[in-house]
Amino acid sequence: MLYTKRGHFLPYCLPDITDWEINEVVETLKSGWLAKGPKTMQFEKEFAEYVGAKYAVAVNSATAALHISLIAAGIGPGDEVITTPMTFAASANTIIHAGATPVFVDIDPMTGCIDPKEIIKKITKKTKAIVPVHYAGQACDLKAIYEIADQHGLFVSEDAAHAIYTRYDGNLIGYKPKGTVSYSFYATKNLATGEGGMLVTDDEEIANKARVLITHGMSKNAWNRYSKGGSWKYDIEVPGYKYNMFDLQAALGKIQLARIEEMQARRAEIAGMYDKAFRGLKGIDLPEVHRATTTHSWHLYVIKLALENLRIDRDQFIDELNERNIGTSVHFIPVHLMSAFRERYGYKMGDFPKTEDWFERIISLPLYPTMSNEDVNDVIVAVKDIINLHS
Ligand SMILES: Cc1ncc(COP(=O)(O)O)c(C=O)c1O
Repeated sequence: MLYTKRGHFLPYCLPDITDWEINEVVETLKSGWLAKGPKTMQFEKEFAEYVGAKYAVAVNSATAALHISLIAAGIGPGDEVITTPMTFAASANTIIHAGATPVFVDIDPMTGCIDPKEIIKKITKKTKAIVPVHYAGQACDLKAIYEIADQHGLFVSEDAAHAIYTRYDGNLIGYKPKGTVSYSFYATKNLATGEGGMLVTDDEEIANKARVLITHGMSKNAWNRYSKGGSWKYDIEVPGYKYNMFDLQAALGKIQLARIEEMQARRAEIAGMYDKAFRGLKGIDLPEVHRATTTHSWHLYVIKLALENLRIDRDQFIDELNERNIGTSVHFIPVHLMSAFRERYGYKMGDFPKTEDWFERIISLPLYPTMSNEDVNDVIVAVKDIINLHS
């Protein structure tokens, strides 16, 4: 079949914002309450109810939530925290921000998530916590991870930046969490507030500490000190951070949460269209889902090139897609290969073969609710055309 190039560029990601979100933001602007206030409190309550956790603390990013989780759990200098290199730098940077040392372990090559068997090999006397990442929206092997954590007395801070809507054993990630779970509401995420995040936990002490830490360490309820009934008096209990969410973000977040089923249904539909179109193609391997335990959130649709069947590499494949007006991304450049981590900790190429092999082969295709069926078809036709030309 003759290939026809798409007329305009298809971004790899776009947020899904309707008049409902816009009206809520305008109403918030008119309310006079722009900083952290009633909308943030409502969003926290609704989010906690949605995932099934006791406490939700709204913050300005998943990075903030990950950082605060470790500090509130008492992780600090001298401690080691195990995580995956197949993640965004935030998962590892925040371990360093807490004063601890990140220790990477390789992934399960089926899912891209941290391999519990590798975790066991890296546990030392200094190990205090694990930061598993629900990669692309696939749940980690939580049963194995929590068993290891229980055996060795480790804290678990789940990085759920990709995992709003992901289910593990029938329950949403964040349901009755044993440690903490951190979500991202960055512009590209399944629930987007521009920048934003949420820390959820069932541990009252951690929730209370987190609330204090995210507003400079101010004593509780300082957020409403300018309201009638609020008090101008506050104490700084610890030198904390300025990490709180504010009401304009929460206005977006509340409506995005109310629309989550609708947005997720479209994501699943698009992932299904890709699966159907690509199944059996020699040039690519499709995302594999542990269907027995997991419902995927389809934050990302990551294909893996079967390089042995292609005459081009991953970068050339991306260039060819770009040439055909299809935007893509790569999730992720392994963190251990970043210069900061090579220089500080001596990590090098070859340390995590499965992660590195994965990295050489992955491409994230466009996947977001506002894509039309024609957009999806343009991606499918472009991918097939490149495989035909180069296999
Ligand atoms: C796996 C993972 N963890 C953490 C983060 C950080 O999220 P945020 O930008 O909300 O700080 C991201 C962001 O892309 C991510 O992909």
